[in-house]
Amino acid sequence: MTSTALIIGASRGIGLELVTQYAGAGWTVHGTTRSIDQPGPVASIAGDITLHQLEVRSEKDLRQLRASLIDTPIDVLIHSAGVYRNTPRDEIMAVNAEAPIRIAEALLENVAASNLRRLALITSQLGARRGRTGSLGDYGDSKAALNDAFRARASEWAARGVRAIVIHPGWVSTDMGGASAPVSVHDSAWGIRNVMDSLTAEMHGRFWTWDGREHEW
Ligand SMILES: NC(=O)c1ccc[n+]([C@@H]2O[C@H](COP(=O)([O-])OP(=O)(O)OC[C@H]3O[C@@H](n4cnc5c(N)ncnc54)[C@H](OP(=O)(O)O)[C@@H]3O)[C@@H](O)[C@H]2O)c1
Repeated sequence: MTSTALIIGASRGIGLELVTQYAGAGWTVHGTTRSIDQPGPVASIAGDITLHQLEVRSEKDLRQLRASLIDTPIDVLIHSAGVYRNTPRDEIMAVNAEAPIRIAEALLENVAASNLRRLALITSQLGARRGRTGSLGDYGDSKAALNDAFRARASEWAARGVRAIVIHPGWVSTDMGGASAPVSVHDSAWGIRNVMDSLTAEMHGRFWTWDGREHEW
């Protein structure tokens, strides 16, 4: 039976590549973009792809997305959308820390109703507190807050039958990571898909990297 993926933040970067790879592997794919009128290159990817509008801070957009997907089991949900530099702190916190949890919770029933029941929130190694001294900066703070919020909910999500993780995608050559980043967007998305494919119950509630290593909090 065909599996279904939902990728939040499909217009560029890792999210766009995840849509490309899941669709190329024959999955049914739902992707979200901030503007449905100007979705960018995701609109021309071959495969069974449905696009939805989602500004991740918009409650209205989230209600519409939820309504559109009401009877759709989601085997794999990956939240990729995020912001890094040159952005006000309140926007960084809203997009990186608050939105992924709100969106995951709004769609948890869809994941729980699927065969695979897997969910990943893309975080960053810059949100890890262990081994670091001083300020994490706005971006690091936002990913640390995401990790904290995830850990606070992990048991409840497991009780609902969902296997969920936070995952660091590598330092990836996207608009965010820059051209000198060592990991290609292809390899990052490929690695994330491998982790999702092999996600066991024991891996639930923990922090992983794109190449399958556990990360400290
Ligand atoms: N690249 C790296 O080296 C790296 C390292 C660690 C973690 N990460 C994390 O990996 C994830 C993906 O990063 P990336 O490198 O693919 O970034 P990217 O190329 O800059 O793409 C960011 C994506 O997030 C979307 N987005 C941002 N704000 C949004 C909002 N308010 N509503 C809806 N969509 C929004 C963008 O949509 P628009 O096109 O509409 O702007 C775009 O699709 C992020 O969570 C990031 O923090 C990346």
